[in-house]
Amino acid sequence: MNTTAIAPLDVAALRRQFPALAREIDGRPAIFLDGPGGSQVPASVIAAMVAYLQGSNANLGGAFATSAESDAVYAAARAAAADLTGSLPEEIAFGANMTTLNFQLAHAVARTLTAGDEVVVTELDHDGNVSPWLRVAEDRGLVVRTAPLRVGDGTLDMDAFEALLGPRTKVVAFTLASNALGTKPDARRMIDAAHRVGALAWADAVHYAPHGRIDRAGLGLDVVVCSPYKFFGPHLGLAAIRHDLAVSWPADRVRPADEEPAGHRFETGTQSHEALTGFVAAVDYLASLGEGETRAARLDSAYERIVAHEEALTLHALARLTAVPGLQLYGIADPARVSERTPTFSFTIEEHAPRAISETLGAQGIFTWDGNYYALNAIRALGLEASGGAVRAGFLHYTTVAEVDRLVDALDRIAAV
Ligand SMILES: Cc1ncc(COP(=O)(O)O)c(C=O)c1O
Repeated sequence: MNTTAIAPLDVAALRRQFPALAREIDGRPAIFLDGPGGSQVPASVIAAMVAYLQGSNANLGGAFATSAESDAVYAAARAAAADLTGSLPEEIAFGANMTTLNFQLAHAVARTLTAGDEVVVTELDHDGNVSPWLRVAEDRGLVVRTAPLRVGDGTLDMDAFEALLGPRTKVVAFTLASNALGTKPDARRMIDAAHRVGALAWADAVHYAPHGRIDRAGLGLDVVVCSPYKFFGPHLGLAAIRHDLAVSWPADRVRPADEEPAGHRFETGTQSHEALTGFVAAVDYLASLGEGETRAARLDSAYERIVAHEEALTLHALARLTAVPGLQLYGIADPARVSERTPTFSFTIEEHAPRAISETLGAQGIFTWDGNYYALNAIRALGLEASGGAVRAGFLHYTTVAEVDRLVDALDRIAAV
């Protein structure tokens, strides 16, 4: 057992690296609880993007300095993505965002399937890992089965999930963490179940990535997709695809790029080089929160620290939120199960529309989301879709206990009206 205590994050110091966190609304510090919709970025990310645009802006493969520097950006971005996701650089594909990449990859894998083959999705997932499967199922006569949510605690019904899998299941598409309820399903069990029937384990790590270490190869995931703008980087998507699949799936490519091996076969046209530069800086920022010889090792320890801070925030938030009169919290509320969720909280307050709550909070400089956040299956399963969904407050490693308190104090005032 490792008994070495890890030093906690220095939250005050790391917050100073994020220019946006100094923002004020009507003289009060803004509180960014919209992290599950997009995080803020440290100054190093902004500087890297500016430096690229100022000094190295060019297309790839040319016989001159700025083009060579742009080639180097690509190589650095693949290496950073490999470290971040526990993959090989050749397994990485970048794209506009997760949704676009996922549609593209689903189309590619669907070309290898035949009518009657099955895909399992879940009620916990963001629609970015549901609709691509519904679309390809329509195109190719596939069957989509949906694993149900247990509305009581916002977890998946794992027995029902396993019962859906069979010899025709080819893809099991699931999320590593719910962007609505924070739930982290039992990925190990889902991957093993998928592989037992010979299906691909296809994980959406978009919400998970700022909160937990991803280890594609270690977990045995076949595909992982995520979005750097959720973990302190610029707007961008990335996929890590098991190498033999990355080199063999039919990709939509122009000639002669269609002959290129590996993940970048799924990169169509010219990418946002400035975003790739910012992405590398974001991974380096995350790694700077940890210690170790290699960037991968620093990421391991950084995430340990992030988890420790976020679990403490979760315990504090659970204790306070559940005491707000009339507040209904969706998802895991048991403090003993803190490790099964991210610090993302969706709730409603009796007699108050979610939009109205978010507006009141927004006017006080507290930024929350309301609605379904495209976690359509989950919000429908909870019976909230017709009534405006729920309010979502999402904490990140830069969130403080004082900010959680300011949120809950504001909710107390709303509930009292
Ligand atoms: C869990 C989850 N999956 C997928 C997406 C879609 O990501 P993108 O905006 O990169 O397409 C989001 C965005 O909110 C998300 O939270």
